[in-house]
Amino acid sequence: MPGRGALCLGLLLRVLLVCGSAQQPDSCRGLCECSEPAKTVKCVNKNLTAVPPDLPSYVRTLFITGNRLGRLPAGAFPAQRLPDLSTLNLSGNHLGEVEAGALSVLPALRQLDLSGNPLVSLSPQTFGEGGSPLEELTLRGALRNHTILLSLAAMLQSGALRNLSRLDLADNGLVVLPTGMFTALPALRQLDLSNNSLVGLHNVSFQGLAQLQSLNLSNNSLSVLRNSTLAQFRGLPALRRINLGRNTWVCDCAIEDLVAWLKESDQVEGKEALTCAYPDKMLGKALMKINGSDLNCLLPTDLPSQLQTSYVFLGIVLALIGAIFLLVLYLNRKGIKKWMHNIRDACRDHMEGYHYRYEINADPRLTNLSSNSDV
Ligand SMILES: *[C@@H]1O[C@H](CO)[C@@H](O)[C@H](O)[C@H]1NC(C)=O
Ligand SMILES: *[C@@H]1O[C@H](CO)[C@@H](O)[C@H](O)[C@H]1NC(C)=O
Ligand SMILES: *[C@@H]1O[C@H](CO)[C@@H](O)[C@H](O)[C@H]1NC(C)=O
Ligand SMILES: *[C@@H]1O[C@H](CO)[C@@H](O)[C@H](O)[C@H]1NC(C)=O
Ligand SMILES: *[C@@H]1O[C@H](CO)[C@@H](O)[C@H](O)[C@H]1NC(C)=O
Ligand SMILES: *[C@@H]1O[C@H](CO)[C@@H](O)[C@H](O)[C@H]1NC(C)=O
Ligand SMILES: *[C@@H]1O[C@H](CO)[C@@H](O)[C@H](O)[C@H]1NC(C)=O
Ligand SMILES: *[C@@H]1O[C@H](CO)[C@@H](O)[C@H](O)[C@H]1NC(C)=O
Ligand SMILES: *[C@@H]1O[C@H](CO)[C@@H](O)[C@H](O)[C@H]1NC(C)=O
Ligand SMILES: *[C@@H]1O[C@H](CO)[C@@H](O)[C@H](O)[C@H]1NC(C)=O
Repeated sequence: MPGRGALCLGLLLRVLLVCGSAQQPDSCRGLCECSEPAKTVKCVNKNLTAVPPDLPSYVRTLFITGNRLGRLPAGAFPAQRLPDLSTLNLSGNHLGEVEAGALSVLPALRQLDLSGNPLVSLSPQTFGEGGSPLEELTLRGALRNHTILLSLAAMLQSGALRNLSRLDLADNGLVVLPTGMFTALPALRQLDLSNNSLVGLHNVSFQGLAQLQSLNLSNNSLSVLRNSTLAQFRGLPALRRINLGRNTWVCDCAIEDLVAWLKESDQVEGKEALTCAYPDKMLGKALMKINGSDLNCLLPTDLPSQLQTSYVFLGIVLALIGAIFLLVLYLNRKGIKKWMHNIRDACRDHMEGYHYRYEINADPRLTNLSSNSDV
Protein backbone atom coordinates (compact mmCIF):
# COMPACT_ATOMS: atom_id res chain seq x y z
CA MET A 1 0.00 0.00 0.00
CA PRO A 2 2.29 2.81 -1.19
CA GLY A 3 -0.48 5.53 -1.04
CA ARG A 4 -1.11 4.97 2.65
CA GLY A 5 2.61 5.09 3.45
CA ALA A 6 3.01 8.44 1.69
CA LEU A 7 0.01 9.82 3.60
CA CYS A 8 1.52 8.73 6.94
CA LEU A 9 4.84 10.30 6.05
CA GLY A 10 3.14 13.55 5.01
CA LEU A 11 1.19 13.68 8.31
CA LEU A 12 4.36 13.05 10.29
CA LEU A 13 6.18 15.82 8.47
CA ARG A 14 3.29 18.22 9.02
CA VAL A 15 3.16 17.38 12.73
CA LEU A 16 6.89 17.96 13.03
CA LEU A 17 6.64 21.26 11.17
CA VAL A 18 3.66 22.46 13.21
CA CYS A 19 5.36 21.48 16.46
CA GLY A 20 8.54 23.26 15.39
CA SER A 21 6.85 26.50 14.37
CA ALA A 22 4.66 26.57 17.51
CA GLN A 23 7.77 26.58 19.68
CA GLN A 24 10.01 28.79 17.55
CA PRO A 25 8.85 32.25 16.47
CA ASP A 26 10.56 33.47 13.32
CA SER A 27 12.83 35.86 15.25
CA CYS A 28 14.25 32.91 17.19
CA ARG A 29 15.51 31.29 14.01
CA GLY A 30 18.67 33.13 13.21
CA LEU A 31 18.21 36.74 14.35
CA CYS A 32 17.90 36.04 18.05
CA GLU A 33 19.01 33.34 20.48
CA CYS A 34 16.05 32.24 22.53
CA SER A 35 16.09 30.12 25.68
CA GLU A 36 12.77 29.21 27.18
CA PRO A 37 14.23 27.64 30.36
CA ALA A 38 16.23 30.82 31.02
CA LYS A 39 13.34 33.01 29.77
CA THR A 40 15.94 34.97 27.85
CA VAL A 41 16.16 36.30 24.29
CA LYS A 42 19.32 37.83 22.84
CA CYS A 43 19.39 39.70 19.53
CA VAL A 44 22.97 40.95 19.52
CA ASN A 45 24.86 42.73 16.72
CA LYS A 46 22.39 41.74 13.97
CA ASN A 47 21.83 45.14 12.31
CA LEU A 48 18.13 45.01 13.34
CA THR A 49 16.30 48.22 12.44
CA ALA A 50 13.21 47.42 14.54
CA VAL A 51 12.26 45.36 17.58
CA PRO A 52 11.28 41.88 16.26
CA PRO A 53 7.45 41.76 16.32
CA ASP A 54 7.10 38.09 17.31
CA LEU A 55 9.17 37.82 20.49
CA PRO A 56 8.18 34.77 22.56
CA SER A 57 5.78 35.69 25.33
CA TYR A 58 7.79 33.88 28.04
CA VAL A 59 10.69 36.38 27.79
CA ARG A 60 11.82 38.00 31.04
CA THR A 61 15.27 39.17 29.96
CA LEU A 62 15.65 40.70 26.53
CA PHE A 63 18.90 41.90 24.98
CA ILE A 64 18.61 43.90 21.78
CA THR A 65 22.09 45.39 21.69
CA GLY A 66 24.49 46.56 19.00
CA ASN A 67 21.80 46.98 16.34
CA ARG A 68 20.52 49.91 14.27
CA LEU A 69 17.12 50.72 15.73
CA GLY A 70 17.36 54.48 15.16
CA ARG A 71 14.09 55.23 16.92
CA LEU A 72 11.74 53.55 19.34
CA PRO A 73 8.14 54.45 18.39
CA ALA A 74 5.01 54.02 20.51
CA GLY A 75 4.18 50.60 19.03
CA ALA A 76 7.72 49.18 19.21
CA PHE A 77 6.65 46.48 21.67
CA PRO A 78 3.35 44.65 21.07
CA ALA A 79 0.81 45.52 23.73
CA GLN A 80 -0.11 42.73 26.20
CA ARG A 81 2.28 40.28 24.51
CA LEU A 82 5.20 40.50 26.96
CA PRO A 83 3.66 40.41 30.44
CA ASP A 84 6.81 39.16 32.19
CA LEU A 85 9.52 41.23 30.50
CA SER A 86 11.47 42.74 33.41
CA THR A 87 15.00 43.36 32.09
CA LEU A 88 15.44 45.18 28.81
CA ASN A 89 18.88 46.03 27.45
CA LEU A 90 18.81 48.35 24.45
CA SER A 91 22.39 49.61 24.67
CA GLY A 92 24.43 50.50 21.60
CA ASN A 93 21.58 50.61 19.09
CA HIS A 94 22.09 54.02 17.42
CA LEU A 95 18.84 55.09 19.09
CA GLY A 96 18.22 58.80 18.61
CA GLU A 97 14.55 59.07 19.55
CA VAL A 98 12.37 57.41 22.15
CA GLU A 99 8.74 58.39 21.66
CA ALA A 100 5.85 58.82 24.07
CA GLY A 101 4.43 55.50 25.25
CA ALA A 102 7.26 53.45 23.72
CA LEU A 103 7.81 51.55 26.99
CA SER A 104 4.43 51.96 28.67
CA VAL A 105 3.11 48.58 27.44
CA LEU A 106 5.63 46.56 29.49
CA PRO A 107 3.86 46.05 32.82
CA ALA A 108 6.72 44.18 34.52
CA LEU A 109 9.70 46.30 33.37
CA ARG A 110 12.19 46.74 36.25
CA GLN A 111 15.56 47.36 34.55
CA LEU A 112 16.27 49.36 31.44
CA ASP A 113 19.64 50.04 29.86
CA LEU A 114 19.79 52.69 27.12
CA SER A 115 23.56 53.31 27.36
CA GLY A 116 25.68 54.19 24.38
CA ASN A 117 22.84 55.49 22.23
CA PRO A 118 23.11 58.98 20.71
CA LEU A 119 19.79 60.13 22.18
CA VAL A 120 18.62 63.57 21.06
CA SER A 121 14.93 63.15 21.86
CA LEU A 122 13.38 61.40 24.84
CA SER A 123 9.71 61.84 25.54
CA PRO A 124 8.86 62.59 29.19
CA GLN A 125 5.88 60.22 28.58
CA THR A 126 8.08 57.29 27.46
CA PHE A 127 6.68 55.21 30.33
CA GLY A 128 3.16 56.53 29.90
CA GLU A 129 1.16 58.79 32.15
CA GLY A 130 0.61 56.35 35.03
CA GLY A 131 3.34 55.08 37.34
CA SER A 132 6.01 52.75 35.98
CA PRO A 133 7.45 49.90 38.08
CA LEU A 134 10.96 50.71 36.74
CA GLU A 135 13.68 50.32 39.39
CA GLU A 136 16.95 50.73 37.43
CA LEU A 137 17.63 53.16 34.62
CA THR A 138 21.03 53.26 32.96
CA LEU A 139 21.86 56.10 30.61
CA ARG A 140 25.66 56.00 30.42
CA GLY A 141 27.02 57.97 27.49
CA ALA A 142 23.54 58.50 26.06
CA LEU A 143 22.60 62.15 26.59
CA ARG A 144 23.89 64.13 23.65
CA ASN A 145 22.80 67.68 24.49
CA HIS A 146 21.17 69.84 27.13
CA THR A 147 17.72 69.60 25.53
CA ILE A 148 17.55 65.88 26.20
CA LEU A 149 18.74 66.40 29.76
CA LEU A 150 15.77 68.74 30.26
CA SER A 151 13.42 66.06 28.84
CA LEU A 152 14.86 63.50 31.23
CA ALA A 153 14.44 65.95 34.12
CA ALA A 154 10.80 66.48 33.11
CA MET A 155 10.25 62.71 33.04
CA LEU A 156 11.79 62.23 36.48
CA GLN A 157 9.92 65.22 37.95
CA SER A 158 6.58 64.04 36.57
CA GLY A 159 6.56 61.33 39.25
CA ALA A 160 6.29 58.53 36.68
CA LEU A 161 9.35 56.78 38.14
CA ARG A 162 8.62 56.86 41.86
CA ASN A 163 9.98 53.31 42.29
CA LEU A 164 13.33 54.09 40.69
CA SER A 165 16.12 53.00 43.00
CA ARG A 166 19.18 53.19 40.74
CA LEU A 167 19.94 55.93 38.24
CA ASP A 168 23.14 55.90 36.23
CA LEU A 169 23.97 59.09 34.32
CA ALA A 170 27.74 58.59 34.06
CA ASP A 171 29.88 59.43 31.00
CA ASN A 172 27.53 62.11 29.64
CA GLY A 173 29.64 65.28 29.70
CA LEU A 174 26.97 67.00 31.85
CA VAL A 175 28.02 70.50 32.97
CA VAL A 176 25.05 71.65 35.07
CA LEU A 177 21.99 69.75 36.21
CA PRO A 178 18.46 71.15 35.85
CA THR A 179 17.03 72.62 39.05
CA GLY A 180 14.92 70.14 40.99
CA MET A 181 15.78 67.18 38.77
CA PHE A 182 15.79 64.62 41.61
CA THR A 183 12.86 65.86 43.67
CA ALA A 184 10.34 63.15 42.72
CA LEU A 185 12.49 60.04 43.28
CA PRO A 186 11.67 58.96 46.83
CA ALA A 187 12.98 55.41 46.33
CA LEU A 188 16.38 56.34 44.87
CA ARG A 189 19.28 54.50 46.53
CA GLN A 190 22.14 54.89 44.07
CA LEU A 191 22.91 57.88 41.91
CA ASP A 192 25.91 57.75 39.58
CA LEU A 193 27.00 61.07 38.11
CA SER A 194 30.64 60.10 37.63
CA ASN A 195 32.77 61.01 34.62
CA ASN A 196 30.79 64.14 33.67
CA SER A 197 31.89 67.79 33.63
CA LEU A 198 29.79 69.08 36.52
CA VAL A 199 31.17 72.45 37.65
CA GLY A 200 28.97 72.91 40.71
CA LEU A 201 25.96 71.67 42.60
CA HIS A 202 24.58 75.09 43.67
CA ASN A 203 21.10 74.48 42.28
CA VAL A 204 20.94 70.73 42.63
CA SER A 205 18.58 69.59 45.34
CA PHE A 206 19.13 66.24 46.99
CA GLN A 207 16.35 66.99 49.44
CA GLY A 208 13.74 64.28 49.79
CA LEU A 209 16.10 61.46 48.74
CA ALA A 210 15.54 59.75 52.07
CA GLN A 211 16.72 56.37 50.75
CA LEU A 212 19.86 57.61 48.97
CA GLN A 213 22.83 55.46 49.99
CA SER A 214 25.49 56.14 47.39
CA LEU A 215 26.30 59.20 45.34
CA ASN A 216 29.12 59.04 42.81
CA LEU A 217 30.47 62.44 41.78
CA SER A 218 33.96 61.30 40.87
CA ASN A 219 35.76 62.55 37.76
CA ASN A 220 33.88 65.83 37.40
CA SER A 221 34.97 69.50 37.42
CA LEU A 222 33.79 70.45 40.90
CA SER A 223 35.80 73.30 42.46
CA VAL A 224 34.01 73.62 45.79
CA LEU A 225 30.91 72.41 47.62
CA ARG A 226 29.01 75.11 49.47
CA ASN A 227 27.27 75.10 52.83
CA SER A 228 23.83 74.56 51.31
CA THR A 229 24.96 71.36 49.57
CA LEU A 230 26.90 70.13 52.60
CA ALA A 231 23.86 70.72 54.80
CA GLN A 232 21.80 68.54 52.46
CA PHE A 233 24.39 65.75 52.58
CA ARG A 234 24.39 65.93 56.39
CA GLY A 235 20.61 65.69 56.39
CA LEU A 236 20.29 62.54 54.27
CA PRO A 237 19.97 59.71 56.80
CA ALA A 238 20.93 56.79 54.54
CA LEU A 239 23.73 58.48 52.58
CA ARG A 240 26.88 56.55 53.46
CA ARG A 241 29.06 56.60 50.35
CA ILE A 242 29.87 59.84 48.56
CA ASN A 243 32.61 59.61 45.96
CA LEU A 244 34.32 62.96 45.26
CA GLY A 245 37.60 61.76 43.73
CA ARG A 246 39.17 63.25 40.61
CA ASN A 247 37.68 66.73 40.84
CA THR A 248 39.38 70.13 40.38
CA TRP A 249 39.14 71.48 43.93
CA VAL A 250 40.13 75.15 44.25
CA CYS A 251 41.82 75.66 47.60
CA ASP A 252 41.03 79.27 48.44
CA CYS A 253 38.94 80.68 51.26
CA ALA A 254 35.71 79.33 49.81
CA ILE A 255 36.86 75.76 50.46
CA GLU A 256 36.98 76.17 54.26
CA ASP A 257 33.46 74.82 54.79
CA LEU A 258 34.12 71.76 52.60
CA VAL A 259 37.36 71.02 54.45
CA ALA A 260 35.66 71.34 57.84
CA TRP A 261 32.89 68.99 56.71
CA LEU A 262 35.38 66.43 55.33
CA LYS A 263 37.21 66.38 58.65
CA GLU A 264 34.06 65.67 60.65
CA SER A 265 32.06 63.50 58.18
CA ASP A 266 32.31 59.77 57.59
CA GLN A 267 30.15 59.90 54.44
CA VAL A 268 33.00 60.46 51.97
CA GLU A 269 34.85 57.48 50.51
CA GLY A 270 38.61 57.89 50.23
CA LYS A 271 38.55 61.45 51.55
CA GLU A 272 42.28 61.36 52.36
CA ALA A 273 43.00 61.11 48.62
CA LEU A 274 41.21 64.36 47.66
CA THR A 275 43.70 67.01 46.57
CA CYS A 276 43.77 70.65 45.45
CA ALA A 277 44.06 71.45 41.73
CA TYR A 278 44.37 75.26 42.14
CA PRO A 279 46.03 77.63 42.94
CA ASP A 280 49.48 76.46 41.88
CA LYS A 281 51.05 76.77 45.31
CA MET A 282 48.42 74.36 46.70
CA LEU A 283 48.54 71.87 43.80
CA GLY A 284 48.44 68.29 45.08
CA LYS A 285 47.89 69.28 48.71
CA ALA A 286 45.46 66.97 50.51
CA LEU A 287 42.19 68.72 51.38
CA MET A 288 42.17 66.97 54.76
CA LYS A 289 45.54 68.56 55.62
CA ILE A 290 44.51 72.13 54.91
CA ASN A 291 44.33 74.44 57.89
CA GLY A 292 43.50 78.13 58.26
CA SER A 293 47.11 79.29 57.95
CA ASP A 294 47.33 77.74 54.45
CA LEU A 295 44.42 79.78 53.15
CA ASN A 296 45.29 83.28 54.49
CA CYS A 297 41.63 84.11 54.53
CA LEU A 298 41.96 87.50 56.23
CA LEU A 299 43.94 88.90 53.29
CA PRO A 300 42.88 88.89 49.67
CA THR A 301 44.04 85.69 48.01
CA ASP A 302 46.68 87.19 45.70
CA LEU A 303 48.08 90.23 47.45
CA PRO A 304 51.05 91.38 45.30
CA SER A 305 49.17 91.40 42.03
CA GLN A 306 46.18 93.10 43.65
CA LEU A 307 48.45 95.79 45.00
CA GLN A 308 50.00 96.25 41.59
CA THR A 309 46.65 96.66 39.91
CA SER A 310 45.53 99.14 42.57
CA TYR A 311 48.69 101.26 42.04
CA VAL A 312 48.11 101.30 38.28
CA PHE A 313 44.51 102.29 38.91
CA LEU A 314 45.56 105.10 41.27
CA GLY A 315 48.03 106.39 38.67
CA ILE A 316 45.38 106.48 35.98
CA VAL A 317 42.95 108.32 38.24
CA LEU A 318 45.55 110.93 39.19
CA ALA A 319 46.52 111.47 35.55
CA LEU A 320 42.86 111.94 34.66
CA ILE A 321 42.34 114.49 37.41
CA GLY A 322 45.45 116.35 36.25
CA ALA A 323 44.27 116.40 32.65
CA ILE A 324 40.84 117.70 33.63
CA PHE A 325 42.46 120.43 35.74
CA LEU A 326 44.63 121.56 32.83
CA LEU A 327 41.65 121.52 30.48
CA VAL A 328 39.59 123.66 32.84
CA LEU A 329 42.50 126.09 33.11
CA TYR A 330 42.80 126.25 29.35
CA LEU A 331 39.09 126.79 28.70
CA ASN A 332 38.97 129.47 31.37
CA ARG A 333 42.10 131.25 30.27
CA LYS A 334 40.42 134.65 29.67
CA GLY A 335 38.70 134.62 33.04
CA ILE A 336 41.97 133.65 34.65
CA LYS A 337 43.82 136.45 32.88
CA LYS A 338 41.23 138.92 34.12
CA TRP A 339 41.50 137.51 37.60
CA MET A 340 45.26 137.81 37.48
CA HIS A 341 44.88 141.45 36.44
CA ASN A 342 42.48 142.12 39.28
CA ILE A 343 44.86 140.54 41.73
CA ARG A 344 47.74 142.50 40.33
CA ASP A 345 45.75 145.73 40.57
CA ALA A 346 44.67 144.95 44.08
CA CYS A 347 48.29 144.23 44.95
CA ARG A 348 49.42 147.41 43.36
CA ASP A 349 46.88 149.46 45.33
CA HIS A 350 47.95 147.75 48.45
CA MET A 351 51.62 148.30 47.73
CA GLU A 352 50.99 151.93 46.92
CA GLY A 353 49.25 152.29 50.25
CA TYR A 354 52.32 150.87 51.98
CA HIS A 355 54.58 153.04 49.89
CA TYR A 356 52.58 156.13 50.83
CA ARG A 357 52.68 155.32 54.51
CA TYR A 358 56.41 154.63 54.25
CA GLU A 359 56.96 157.99 52.65
CA ILE A 360 54.94 159.69 55.37
CA ASN A 361 56.95 157.88 58.05
CA ALA A 362 60.16 158.81 56.26
CA ASP A 363 59.30 162.58 56.08
CA PRO A 364 61.62 164.31 58.69
CA ARG A 365 59.22 167.27 59.19
CA LEU A 366 56.43 164.94 60.13
CA THR A 367 58.82 163.10 62.43
CA ASN A 368 59.70 166.30 64.10
CA LEU A 369 56.10 167.26 64.39
CA SER A 370 55.31 164.08 66.14
CA SER A 371 58.30 164.35 68.46
CA ASN A 372 57.37 167.96 69.21
CA SER A 373 53.86 167.05 70.04
CA ASP A 374 55.29 164.37 72.36
CA VAL A 375 57.11 167.07 74.14
C1 LIG B 1 25.95 44.77 9.74
O1 LIG B 1 26.32 45.82 8.83
C2 LIG B 1 27.72 45.97 8.71
C3 LIG B 1 27.98 47.16 7.80
O2 LIG B 1 26.86 47.57 7.14
C4 LIG B 1 28.30 44.69 8.10
O3 LIG B 1 29.71 44.81 7.98
C5 LIG B 1 27.98 43.52 9.01
O4 LIG B 1 28.42 42.31 8.44
C6 LIG B 1 26.48 43.40 9.24
N1 LIG B 1 26.24 42.40 10.26
C7 LIG B 1 25.30 41.46 10.10
C8 LIG B 1 25.17 40.46 11.19
O5 LIG B 1 24.57 41.44 9.14
C1 LIG C 1 23.62 45.74 28.51
O1 LIG C 1 24.41 45.18 27.51
C2 LIG C 1 25.72 45.73 27.41
C3 LIG C 1 26.36 45.14 26.17
O2 LIG C 1 26.28 43.75 26.21
C4 LIG C 1 26.46 45.43 28.69
O3 LIG C 1 27.76 45.99 28.64
C5 LIG C 1 25.70 46.01 29.87
O4 LIG C 1 26.32 45.67 31.07
C6 LIG C 1 24.28 45.51 29.88
N1 LIG C 1 23.51 46.23 30.89
C7 LIG C 1 23.03 45.66 31.97
C8 LIG C 1 22.26 46.56 32.91
O5 LIG C 1 23.19 44.51 32.23
C1 LIG D 1 19.77 69.05 20.68
O1 LIG D 1 19.60 68.19 19.59
C2 LIG D 1 18.37 68.35 18.90
C3 LIG D 1 18.30 67.36 17.81
O2 LIG D 1 19.49 67.31 17.07
C4 LIG D 1 18.27 69.76 18.35
O3 LIG D 1 17.01 69.93 17.75
C5 LIG D 1 18.42 70.75 19.49
O4 LIG D 1 18.44 72.05 18.99
C6 LIG D 1 19.72 70.49 20.24
N1 LIG D 1 19.78 71.38 21.38
C7 LIG D 1 20.89 72.04 21.74
C8 LIG D 1 20.78 72.91 22.93
O5 LIG D 1 21.93 71.88 21.13
C1 LIG E 1 6.26 50.42 43.42
O1 LIG E 1 6.72 49.49 44.40
C2 LIG E 1 5.72 49.13 45.33
C3 LIG E 1 6.37 48.25 46.39
O2 LIG E 1 7.27 47.37 45.79
C4 LIG E 1 4.58 48.42 44.61
O3 LIG E 1 3.57 48.07 45.53
C5 LIG E 1 4.02 49.37 43.57
O4 LIG E 1 3.03 48.69 42.81
C6 LIG E 1 5.11 49.85 42.64
N1 LIG E 1 4.59 50.87 41.75
C7 LIG E 1 4.37 50.67 40.47
C8 LIG E 1 3.84 51.79 39.69
O5 LIG E 1 4.58 49.58 39.95
C1 LIG F 1 34.12 59.36 30.28
O1 LIG F 1 33.17 60.04 29.49
C2 LIG F 1 33.60 60.32 28.18
C3 LIG F 1 32.49 61.07 27.48
O2 LIG F 1 32.17 62.22 28.18
C4 LIG F 1 33.91 59.01 27.46
O3 LIG F 1 34.40 59.30 26.17
C5 LIG F 1 34.95 58.23 28.24
O4 LIG F 1 35.14 56.99 27.63
C6 LIG F 1 34.47 58.03 29.66
N1 LIG F 1 35.52 57.38 30.43
C7 LIG F 1 35.34 56.22 31.02
C8 LIG F 1 36.50 55.69 31.76
O5 LIG F 1 34.28 55.63 30.98
C1 LIG G 1 37.70 60.93 33.60
O1 LIG G 1 37.34 61.91 32.64
C2 LIG G 1 38.22 62.00 31.55
C3 LIG G 1 37.73 63.14 30.69
O2 LIG G 1 36.37 63.05 30.44
C4 LIG G 1 38.25 60.67 30.81
O3 LIG G 1 39.15 60.76 29.75
C5 LIG G 1 38.67 59.57 31.77
O4 LIG G 1 38.60 58.34 31.11
C6 LIG G 1 37.75 59.55 32.96
N1 LIG G 1 38.19 58.58 33.94
C7 LIG G 1 37.35 57.79 34.59
C8 LIG G 1 37.96 56.84 35.57
O5 LIG G 1 36.14 57.82 34.44
C1 LIG H 1 20.23 78.66 39.95
O1 LIG H 1 18.95 79.06 40.35
C2 LIG H 1 18.75 80.45 40.30
C3 LIG H 1 17.39 80.75 40.85
O2 LIG H 1 16.58 79.62 40.91
C4 LIG H 1 18.91 80.91 38.85
O3 LIG H 1 18.76 82.32 38.79
C5 LIG H 1 20.28 80.53 38.34
O4 LIG H 1 20.42 80.88 36.99
C6 LIG H 1 20.50 79.04 38.51
N1 LIG H 1 21.87 78.71 38.13
C7 LIG H 1 22.16 77.68 37.34
C8 LIG H 1 23.61 77.46 37.05
O5 LIG H 1 21.30 76.94 36.90
C1 LIG I 1 32.28 55.92 40.91
O1 LIG I 1 32.75 56.20 39.62
C2 LIG I 1 34.11 55.85 39.40
C3 LIG I 1 34.52 56.35 38.03
O2 LIG I 1 33.54 56.08 37.10
C4 LIG I 1 34.26 54.35 39.55
O3 LIG I 1 35.60 53.98 39.37
C5 LIG I 1 33.78 53.94 40.94
O4 LIG I 1 33.78 52.54 41.06
C6 LIG I 1 32.38 54.44 41.22
N1 LIG I 1 32.08 54.20 42.62
C7 LIG I 1 30.90 53.72 43.01
C8 LIG I 1 30.73 53.54 44.48
O5 LIG I 1 30.00 53.44 42.24
C1 LIG J 1 28.93 77.38 56.85
O1 LIG J 1 28.41 76.78 58.02
C2 LIG J 1 29.27 76.83 59.16
C3 LIG J 1 28.59 76.14 60.32
O2 LIG J 1 27.76 75.12 59.89
C4 LIG J 1 29.55 78.27 59.51
O3 LIG J 1 30.47 78.32 60.58
C5 LIG J 1 30.14 78.99 58.30
O4 LIG J 1 30.33 80.35 58.58
C6 LIG J 1 29.24 78.83 57.10
N1 LIG J 1 29.90 79.41 55.94
C7 LIG J 1 29.32 80.32 55.16
C8 LIG J 1 30.12 80.78 53.98
O5 LIG J 1 28.22 80.75 55.39
C1 LIG K 1 49.00 74.05 59.44
O1 LIG K 1 49.70 73.26 58.48
C2 LIG K 1 51.10 73.47 58.48
C3 LIG K 1 51.70 72.61 57.39
O2 LIG K 1 50.93 72.72 56.23
C4 LIG K 1 51.70 73.12 59.84
O3 LIG K 1 53.08 73.41 59.83
C5 LIG K 1 51.00 73.93 60.92
O4 LIG K 1 51.45 73.49 62.18
C6 LIG K 1 49.51 73.72 60.84
N1 LIG K 1 48.85 74.56 61.81
C7 LIG K 1 47.88 74.15 62.60
C8 LIG K 1 47.28 75.16 63.51
O5 LIG K 1 47.46 73.01 62.56
